[in-house]
Amino acid sequence: MTIGKKMTDALNGQIKEEIFSAYLYFAMAADYESKDWPGVASWMKVQAQEEMGHAFKIYNWINERGGKAVFEAIDKPQESWDSALELFEGALKHEQHITACFYNLVKIAREEGDISTEIFLQWFVTEQVEEEANASEIVGKIKKVQDSQNGMYMLDKELSIRSAAPAQSDSQS
Ligand SMILES: [Fe+2]
Ligand SMILES: [Fe+2]
Repeated sequence: MTIGKKMTDALNGQIKEEIFSAYLYFAMAADYESKDWPGVASWMKVQAQEEMGHAFKIYNWINERGGKAVFEAIDKPQESWDSALELFEGALKHEQHITACFYNLVKIAREEGDISTEIFLQWFVTEQVEEEANASEIVGKIKKVQDSQNGMYMLDKELSIRSAAPAQSDSQS
């Protein structure tokens, strides 16, 4: 069944959200790269890549269903953050916003009777639980080390370990 216009428009809006997410995490990476926290920057760059993967996944879905992806203007992200705590709290808040976006997309899929898209969206709803948990866990760790330079040094090292997940998020579904 060809995808409907309302569903296509809503998914196109989400492509924009995902690319903005990549933009935001790229900006966070750049800020922390310039402040000499390579681990934080590396974590953010992996995150940015994953967000582009999400955009691709939605793009592929629209095409597969006979729709056409349309690209909207991407907003300029914030450029600088005062602390690592503010940075990761910003990431958490952003992911909570994205979760709300997916809830809304599921609602539209249900209203439109687009069961295929509703099932497709389940992957993202589950993914968002992890996205929020990851950001929230790091916020918790930063709060624990507080202003300890040693603690932050260790945390930066820990964050540098994260590497890009195998192309799971940008595969065709
Ligand atoms: Fe995403
Ligand atoms: Fe995300």
